[in-house]
Amino acid sequence: MEASDPVRQGQVVAQAGAHFGSLPEPVRVRLSSLLLDDLLTEYDARLLGSHLREVGAHWSEAFWGVEARWEADEAQHHRVARGVYLSCGGGEDFNLEGRQADFSHLEPWLGDEFAFLCLAAYDEWVTVRAYTAGLAWYDALGPTFGRWMRGVIADEARHYSQFLSLARSGHPGRLQEVPDLMRAIGSVEGEPYRSTFLLDHDDPIFRVEWFDQARRVLQRHLCAGLPGGATQPHSN
Ligand SMILES: [Fe+2]
Ligand SMILES: [Fe+2]
Repeated sequence: MEASDPVRQGQVVAQAGAHFGSLPEPVRVRLSSLLLDDLLTEYDARLLGSHLREVGAHWSEAFWGVEARWEADEAQHHRVARGVYLSCGGGEDFNLEGRQADFSHLEPWLGDEFAFLCLAAYDEWVTVRAYTAGLAWYDALGPTFGRWMRGVIADEARHYSQFLSLARSGHPGRLQEVPDLMRAIGSVEGEPYRSTFLLDHDDPIFRVEWFDQARRVLQRHLCAGLPGGATQPHSN
């Protein structure tokens, strides 16, 4: 069955909810908090998508192809995280319609396609790490949800790879800027989250060392083959 199949998604939600009731209270509390964070961040992809359609209307056709598939995946992640959260006793008081993003601190990355692709790839890499660390909790909701979350992790890894590939193939003349861009990402990491989808790293599951690691890996992948391409970005 396809991941987008509503029947499969319904099974994931129902079986996760059935497991939740038998878990110890501290595990239930932590899972609820993780699921709420997931459903909100994944929802915020639509706020980012809307913003990109305003600032990046002139960006490449290839970008918008990648963006459409990315946004559809994130919407699906949101739908299932929301369903699981509710089936685990969560209340529907998260007011999605009232969410407003503040992109002001991310303006340097929203001004052009290449800079955005670099930040988005960085963010997806960190997301892979966070969801992978979260499996220790997600697996408590049973094998069906565990399999679902492994599919989500595969989606996030594909997003990383697609943003990275387009940055390399679509903007070969910009790759010399990568070390500066990576340093700049380091300087904005740690800002409080403002419903921007990007850099939602407030949950305690995130480890500070992942941020440097993400910048190093991304720079290596972006600059492979360039003179000095393996240079390590400075930490901030
Ligand atoms: Fe996602
Ligand atoms: Fe993603």
